[in-house]
Amino acid sequence: MVRTLFHIACALAVVALLHAADAQTLVPYKITGDGIAEQLTGAPGDATRGRALVLDRSTTCILCHSGPFGTQFQGDLAPSLAGVGNRWTAAQLRLRLVDAAHFNSNTIMPSYYRVDGLTRVGRNWTGKPILNPDQIEDIVAYLATLQD
Ligand code: HEC
Repeated sequence: MVRTLFHIACALAVVALLHAADAQTLVPYKITGDGIAEQLTGAPGDATRGRALVLDRSTTCILCHSGPFGTQFQGDLAPSLAGVGNRWTAAQLRLRLVDAAHFNSNTIMPSYYRVDGLTRVGRNWTGKPILNPDQIEDIVAYLATLQD
């Protein structure tokens, strides 16, 4: 019995440590000009998953943005994402998602891959970026397909 409890305690400790690591370690990235040229994951994202993420309530993209999404509920607080893949390179789109405040410190758009210098972060999000590197790359891949 005691041993079982000990094992459970160890398992919980490991889980807690994994979460702690998760919270602190942002993949390092390099800003060149007005973009991040290298993928955060070192591999191209998946545009289909990216589309699903953009439309998902959890990312809140379409709370502000409209676009060629074929859904009824789209926001108008921000430019339409239609044609965004023509206007911006993947590198520019990546930096925009990682840290929109890099371009405009007063923007209402969240910095999706940043943990420092943020205000109004919900308790569950403290120390964690809103999106993980795979999700950032999936969304970049999808936005790059929006060519008109
Ligand atoms: C709270 C509102 C808000 C949310 C949520 C939001 N954005 Fe934005 N976004 C903006 C605003 C406003 C701009 C215009 C530039 C600025 O203020 O930074 C913008 C600009 C952009 C641009 C550049 C568009 C252009 O043509 O100049 C892209 C790309 C973009 N957002 C993608 C996204 C994606 C993808 C998501 C979800 C992961 C998202 N945004 C979530 C408000 C938002």
